[in-house]
Amino acid sequence: MNELSGIVLQNVYFRYKNREAYVIKGITGFIKPGTTLSIIGTTGCGKSTLAMLIAGIYSPTRGQIWIEGQRPDILLGKTLFYVHSNPHIFIGTIQDNITLWDKFPAVDIKKALRICQLDDLDLHMQVGEGRGELSLGQKQRIALARAIIRQPKVLILDEATSGLDSKTEEKIFRHLLNMKHLTLIIISHRLSTIKSSDKVWVMKDGTIVSSGAHQELLHKCDEYIKLFEKQIIT
Ligand SMILES: Nc1ncnc2c1ncn2[C@@H]1O[C@H](COP(=O)(O)OP(=O)(O)OP(=O)(O)O)[C@@H](O)[C@H]1O
Ligand SMILES: [Mg+2]
Repeated sequence: MNELSGIVLQNVYFRYKNREAYVIKGITGFIKPGTTLSIIGTTGCGKSTLAMLIAGIYSPTRGQIWIEGQRPDILLGKTLFYVHSNPHIFIGTIQDNITLWDKFPAVDIKKALRICQLDDLDLHMQVGEGRGELSLGQKQRIALARAIIRQPKVLILDEATSGLDSKTEEKIFRHLLNMKHLTLIIISHRLSTIKSSDKVWVMKDGTIVSSGAHQELLHKCDEYIKLFEKQIIT
């Protein structure tokens, strides 16, 4: 496999500015294009930090990250998107919040709405700054549609569907997993999501302690089983 065609992490270390301790401590890994990776681990172990490093929102303090042979920050917002659980809603219509005032063909908007299970919302409804009450789940689906409509090659979802019921979440993931050329990186606690990933990285204290598919980890990774016991995977 030509490494230029995937995501490569080379001995990545990271510490937040004005903090001495490293929160990411020497992570090396490879994510094959078109596959799905879940990142799991207890709270504070560094999942979001790692996700934001891959997204190019932060740069490694030491080490390097390459996506298709390029630096992530160059791709962010173009072919690479990071969606988290608490998205900002701008003043405007729901459609504005998805397109961000860019022009898209109606058919693309429709497709994004279908994937994100947003068919029930009135696109012309005014929202933002107290106008129109949106539930967390609705906000999250709008933020996801914002990324989907831009046809990402790499999509990073950091608890991005935490406000949805499991049925709706599963429908969305079914669509995402069917997108052949999409590399999906997911931080989620939901077993069904983790199970459907090609690979899982188990994180502990800023490192990856084990890597493999669900079944494999059940056999070889005590830490993975502990995450079930602590109900971090449910
Ligand atoms: N902006 C920041 N400045 C300084 N330290 C931070 C910042 N964000 C996170 N940290 C610290 O970095 C460590 C890793 O945090 P991170 O948010 O990546 O963990 P996480 O695995 O995503 O946790 P959770 O499951 O609660 O979302 C924690 O010790 C946290 O306190
Ligand atoms: Mg987090």
